[in-house]
Amino acid sequence: MNANRVALITGASRGIGRAIALALAECRFDLVINYQSNLEAAQSVQSQASLYGTRAVVCPADISQKEGQSKLIDFIKTQFGRIDVLVNNAGVAPAVREDMLHASEESFDRLIAINLKGPYFLTQRIAQWMIAQRQQLPEIVPIVINISSISAYTSSTNRADYCISKAGISMMTRLYADRLAEFGISVFEIRPGLIATDMTSAVKEKYDPLIAQGLTPIRRWGRPEDVGKAVIAIVQGYLPFSTGEVINVDGGFHLRRL
Ligand SMILES: NC(=O)c1ccc[n+]([C@@H]2O[C@H](COP(=O)([O-])OP(=O)(O)OC[C@H]3O[C@@H](n4cnc5c(N)ncnc54)[C@H](O)[C@@H]3O)[C@@H](O)[C@H]2O)c1
Repeated sequence: MNANRVALITGASRGIGRAIALALAECRFDLVINYQSNLEAAQSVQSQASLYGTRAVVCPADISQKEGQSKLIDFIKTQFGRIDVLVNNAGVAPAVREDMLHASEESFDRLIAINLKGPYFLTQRIAQWMIAQRQQLPEIVPIVINISSISAYTSSTNRADYCISKAGISMMTRLYADRLAEFGISVFEIRPGLIATDMTSAVKEKYDPLIAQGLTPIRRWGRPEDVGKAVIAIVQGYLPFSTGEVINVDGGFHLRRL
């Protein structure tokens, strides 16, 4: 069996997923860097992760498809023979922001498939493996981390599909936390706020002045590394009596203020 702990990070070739992968590598995890199409970007994360002396492998797979999920799981079994941490990070924003009174069914289906249904069934299948593994190797303490968003509870009527998919991830976290606790598997939700990545580059100019005026108590954009650090805080094992917890990584956006 692989000596180091093994983490699968979906959508890890860029942005938040990349930062999570590198933080885990620094923490001595071996990595499965899942990506969808950009091999070069995935390989750049792989070579940076290798600088920490861990083993990182790349695996292309569409996590919204059953075949993609099976491919990933088979790949990890062959490469490492164990799984310790699943980070459900891959996600998409709507191709166009459109008022919910007119937004298309195609966009809704796409967002739900990638942001919710994919992670739900990938987690179901990996959880089955984690349960079986735990019976053989009780020293492995598996963790599932879901990357949701402040959109899980914040209304944005021009991307309702995104908000609904992320609200679903919040409930999915609670459901799996409940179901998997008896097997010693804990489940956490990290809820990022405005993080500077490719996903938010199109709205940078809109949010820059709002942030400067105090939209978030901590007046700056979040960085992908802020989310990476939250993942490390969880996997280090200092929350042994917690599951289903939400960690807000949002500069205080979630606070109600008067
Ligand atoms: N950037 C933000 O402000 C922000 C805020 C809250 C939550 N999030 C969430 O964080 C996660 C990462 O976002 P990001 O900002 O780094 O976005 P990003 O667009 O930079 O990266 C997303 C990654 O997911 C991958 N991906 C998309 N669909 C996939 C699929 N079907 N299979 C495999 N991989 C797929 C993409 O290829 C990409 O590498 C997403 O779930 C996003 O919803 C982002």
